[in-house]
Amino acid sequence: MVVIFVPKETVAGEMRVAAVPETVKGMQKLGLLMQVEHGAGAAAGFADRDYATAGATLVDAMARAGADIVLGIQPPNPEQASGQKAGSLLICTLTPGSCLPSIRALRDNKVTAMGLEFMPRITRSQKMDILSSQATCGGYQAVLLAAVHLPKMFPLMMTAAGTLTPARVLVLGAGVAGLQAISTARKLGAIVEANDIRPAVKEQVESLGAKFVDTGAPPDAETKGGYAKETTQEFLKRQRETLTSHIAQADVLITTALVPGRKAPVLVTAEMRKAMKPGSVIVDMAAGQGGNVEGTVAGEHVVVDGVKILGDSNLPAQKAADASRMFARNVHGFLGEFVKDGQVELDFDNEILAAVTIVHDGKVRHEPTAQALAARGN
Ligand code: NAI
Repeated sequence: MVVIFVPKETVAGEMRVAAVPETVKGMQKLGLLMQVEHGAGAAAGFADRDYATAGATLVDAMARAGADIVLGIQPPNPEQASGQKAGSLLICTLTPGSCLPSIRALRDNKVTAMGLEFMPRITRSQKMDILSSQATCGGYQAVLLAAVHLPKMFPLMMTAAGTLTPARVLVLGAGVAGLQAISTARKLGAIVEANDIRPAVKEQVESLGAKFVDTGAPPDAETKGGYAKETTQEFLKRQRETLTSHIAQADVLITTALVPGRKAPVLVTAEMRKAMKPGSVIVDMAAGQGGNVEGTVAGEHVVVDGVKILGDSNLPAQKAADASRMFARNVHGFLGEFVKDGQVELDFDNEILAAVTIVHDGKVRHEPTAQALAARGN
């Protein structure tokens, strides 16, 4: 029988888990044998006994070596990667450029490694889309975090002690995370504005009750998959000019602008940020990709010129229970794509499998990663 191992995550600050009791049950219905490491779900609020009740066997970390499929949130470290048996599958997030030693170990060990963030964004794969599910949690948490750090309340309040004006929130980048941030900030009663370079976004922003700050769209702004393309420096300069006055008025600035495979665009220079009121809060959700704001420090909270910049690099983990539920359901949906009657059937004519498989049969299939390894003499 095909054995799946669900590890306890070991990366600092990672509280999520790749399978929850609900999906453990579902995966057994696919004919798989479930092994869950002791304490794997504890930080996300899922107890060992709940996994056991769902039918899993509780095991220790050594069980990775015997498993046919290893799940995960974060990529394994090189030691964990080397500890997986040849011919087994690894399913997790795999930003290959930042874990090359692990990719090398997986390749040399003949593990098939699948990076879920490479899921093509087609209708059929929506239920497997971890980028969307985790961005939803991240966008929500970004607003809550800002609300806690802002010395002002979000809603308009008319009280015996006078009227309090609502907070003004500006969201830059209105993809999945940005739209969730807009929706959450609106629910808390803030006045919300948002900007994006993809023309389709204006209507979505307005439907959530926010104002769209139109900085124009560069020609050919969007890829076929719905992602933003990198803009020219000239466009970026004009965009910054329009955004400056809106940034100066904002109590909270949430930035989510990303361009797949590239460093995040700098939308807010130090000079623009200096125009913000003291006590204002910035949540830079692009911190892990270089940041949208000058002065952001990834993984840290810093105060620069009186403005608090929150560069939390793993916001979904701060809502670990629901982020895990969603991630786990995505993984379960993905397994349904290639596990039939308890057997693994990999067909690389299937565009989903072809896109997510980074390493297979001793070869790195993801061209940029293969080149990066070659450049290091590996
Ligand atoms: P993302 O995380 O790559 O980027 C976030 C946002 O930043 C995007 O809206 C992008 O347009 C924006 N951005 C990039 N450069 C910018 C700049 N210079 N200034 C302002 N904004 C900038 O994108 P995300 O949220 O992962 O998804 C983007 C889109 O992909 C979605 O809105 C949707 O159209 C599509 N999508 C399709 C799915 C499907 O069909 N299965 C599922 C999820 C998303």
